[in-house]
Amino acid sequence: MQINCHLSFQLTLVLTTIFDVTNQQDTTLNWTEIVGNEKLGVFYENTQRLYFELFERRAYKRELSPIYSLQPYNLTAQEVPRFNVNITLAYVKVIELAAQSQEIDQLFEFGFEWTDPRLQWNPDDFGGVSKIWLQMDSIWLPENSISNA
Ligand SMILES: *[C@@H]1O[C@H](CO)[C@@H](O)[C@H](O)[C@H]1NC(C)=O
Ligand SMILES: *[C@@H]1O[C@H](CO)[C@@H](O)[C@H](O)[C@H]1NC(C)=O
Ligand SMILES: *[C@@H]1O[C@H](CO)[C@@H](O)[C@H](O)[C@H]1NC(C)=O
Repeated sequence: MQINCHLSFQLTLVLTTIFDVTNQQDTTLNWTEIVGNEKLGVFYENTQRLYFELFERRAYKRELSPIYSLQPYNLTAQEVPRFNVNITLAYVKVIELAAQSQEIDQLFEFGFEWTDPRLQWNPDDFGGVSKIWLQMDSIWLPENSISNA
C-alpha cells in the first residue's frame, strides 16, 4: 500500500510583546480613496504602515535566524529560554482511494508556531491590526522536511 501525502502549511506568527513604535512612516496615500471603501482603506493603510515598520525601518532580514545562543555572554538557561517550534498535524481528508492499485491519497495540514521577537508590534500603534498575512518567503522559517511515508 502506498500513501501519498499532500502537504499544506499554515503559518501563525505569535507576536505578543508590546513594543513602542517611535518613528512611524508618514503615509501620504489615502487608501480609502484608492479602494473606495473606508473600512478596507483604513485596514490597508495600517497594514502598509506595519509592513514598512517591520521590513523597511527595522530592516528585518529573513536570512538571520531568531534562534538565540547562550554564547558568548555566559548566560544561563534561565536567562535565555529555549527556542520552541510547535508543530501540529491535522489530518484533513482522503482524496482518493484506488482499490485496484492499493493507493491512498491523503491530505494533511501542518501548523508551525514559533515566536520571532524581531517581528513584534503593539496593535494600538497600527489601528488595532494584530495579524498580517505574508508570503512564506518574507520571513525566517524553521527548517523542516517531511518525507513521504
Ligand atoms: C481619505 O479620503 C476619504 C474619502 O475622500 C476622506 O473621507 C478621508 O478624510 C481621507 N482621509 C485622510 C486621512 O485624508
Ligand atoms: C564568559 O566566561 C568566560 C570563562 O569564564 C570568560 O573568559 C569570558 O570573559 C566571559 N564572557 C563574558 C561576556 O562575560
Ligand atoms: C507551544 O505550545 C505551548 C502549549 O500550548 C504554549 O505554551 C507555547 O507558548 C507554544 N509556543 C509557541 C512558540 O507558540
